[in-house]
Amino acid sequence: MRYIGNKTRLLGFIEKRLLAREIAGDDLSAVDPFSGTASVGRHLKGLGFRVTASDIMAYGYVFARAYVEVPALRPAPGLADEVLAVEGEHAPTVGDVVAYLNGLDPVPGFIHRSYAPTGEAGREHGRMYFTPANAARIDHVRNRIEEWRRAGRIDLDLYHLLVAAVIEGADRVANTTGVYASFVKSWQPNARRRFRLELPSIVEGNGCRAEQADALALVADHEPFDLLYLDPPYNNRQYPGYYHIPELLAMGWFDGEPELRGKTGLVPDRDKRSDWSRAGKCEDAFEELIATGSWRYLVMSYNDEGIIPESTIERVLKAHGRRGTYRRYSRTYKRYRSDADSEDRKYKGDRVREYLYCVDR
Ligand SMILES: C[S@@+](CC[C@H](N)C(=O)[O-])C[C@H]1O[C@@H](n2cnc3c(N)ncnc32)[C@H](O)[C@@H]1O
Repeated sequence: MRYIGNKTRLLGFIEKRLLAREIAGDDLSAVDPFSGTASVGRHLKGLGFRVTASDIMAYGYVFARAYVEVPALRPAPGLADEVLAVEGEHAPTVGDVVAYLNGLDPVPGFIHRSYAPTGEAGREHGRMYFTPANAARIDHVRNRIEEWRRAGRIDLDLYHLLVAAVIEGADRVANTTGVYASFVKSWQPNARRRFRLELPSIVEGNGCRAEQADALALVADHEPFDLLYLDPPYNNRQYPGYYHIPELLAMGWFDGEPELRGKTGLVPDRDKRSDWSRAGKCEDAFEELIATGSWRYLVMSYNDEGIIPESTIERVLKAHGRRGTYRRYSRTYKRYRSDADSEDRKYKGDRVREYLYCVDR
């Protein structure tokens, strides 16, 4: 999915450095406490690590659960009577379930009311995140998945796989330039396409798990482990304000709809605002985390526009690492441009220097 800091295109760079430093092998454990889309956790799982992937956001948990913890795509016997054309032939596969959900009619609900320009009297918020038809499709699919879970007809693995597919499918048709801090005032070509789920692609394997936790608490409470992979936010944009719709799709609104605020329909999010996105706070957070964890190898992604000064990163890592093991690797990378230059923020250019800091204990 389109996500600030998504490392999908840097996986080769990260893997190469791990191998060069001989951080490999089937028996190693890894913790990724800022896991976002779970791209790195999933890749580490594929390399044989026992991964704990975690994020403070609920959608981060959904991705970590779906793409890191779930060991395999398993059939859903509890849906046989609803999903299969002819009951009894076999238990529905995840592919059968996805195809069934893609065939549901649009049924307007909360997303339609809140994030599509529905023009209902008294509700003319004008938000254009989804076309009315797509919003109503998202509503029906997300509602049905929730009903299945509450009725015990699907297990939690399949539930998270399907919710992850909804978030990713919605992102493909969201009328934004990549983040949800604003919507585009006319329909873009991607928004006009029909909302569809794709069959989740997962890496098979046991022994990995997902959490939703603050990074410091997660690392502090974790039993000793081998690799700490850090990919913290690098600027002062707070994720809850940029991804409030994925967050709602992850959490649901089934036990009470939240009160939405402002032009973009924001959700109250105080508890998820992060010190890692605050100049003046992120340095202390960084130092505390490095000092706290019981790790053997540390690898951290950051870039040349990050709010933690490079001199601080170097000082802290050298202080907590074994002498002579500190290295900073770099690579230029085409920027993920989520929005245009503004008064507050001018991009320096289209290329950004990505760093990988490494140190051993
Ligand atoms: C640069 S992104 C990580 C991207 C991820 N590696 C990927 O490839 O998608 C930083 C992540 O840190 C999370 N985050 C911010 N503050 C946090 C905190 N205090 N504890 C845990 N996660 C946090 C954000 O929600 C965001 O997903």
